[in-house]
Amino acid sequence: MTVKEAIEKRKSIRKYLDKDIPADILNEVLEAGRLAPSAKNMQNWVFIAVTDKELRPFMKEACGGQNCIGEAPASIVVCATEDSVMNCGQHRSTVDCSIALSFMMLRATELGLGTVWLGHFFADKVKEVLNLPENFIPIAVTPIGYPAEEPASRGRKPMEEVTHFNKY
Ligand SMILES: Cc1cc2nc3c(=O)[nH]c(=O)nc-3n(C[C@H](O)[C@H](O)[C@H](O)COP(=O)(O)O)c2cc1C
Repeated sequence: MTVKEAIEKRKSIRKYLDKDIPADILNEVLEAGRLAPSAKNMQNWVFIAVTDKELRPFMKEACGGQNCIGEAPASIVVCATEDSVMNCGQHRSTVDCSIALSFMMLRATELGLGTVWLGHFFADKVKEVLNLPENFIPIAVTPIGYPAEEPASRGRKPMEEVTHFNKY
């Protein structure tokens, strides 16, 4: 699968088969995050792969009761370990971790796995459930597993609306 094909194929998957992800496959996904670029190559991130079935209901609660996180065989929590604001005004923790998770989501697609970015979660609860150190900042969560649905495309704004060449 080409990168273009993975980008086009990826859709948010919220229903998963009751099938574990082999450890080497899950590692491949995490590896895509490890290789992602970060500001000054600081790599101030930690990826927590949650595979313990007993943690699922707690993760579901920490994610506002979203069923997908309780159903998936695993989830990935992307945490920043420190933060600072770049000259552009953006938090490098958010930017770096978002790139890393995007890379992981595309690799997951290539490997036949489904994901859905979850922004609706309570960071303090996630930290408590996973016993994360105080300085960790959970930036994003995704359930991950073999898809049990084939959702239709959500559609996107037209190219002319979202892109401009040279001056706006
Ligand atoms: C920053 C962000 C936060 C999101 N949070 C949630 C969420 O908490 N729960 C959920 O079901 N989907 C969530 N989504 C998924 C979006 O709803 C989804 O990506 C969007 O509708 C486009 O659909 P697609 O991913 O299938 O292309 C989130 C996506 C992003 C990028």
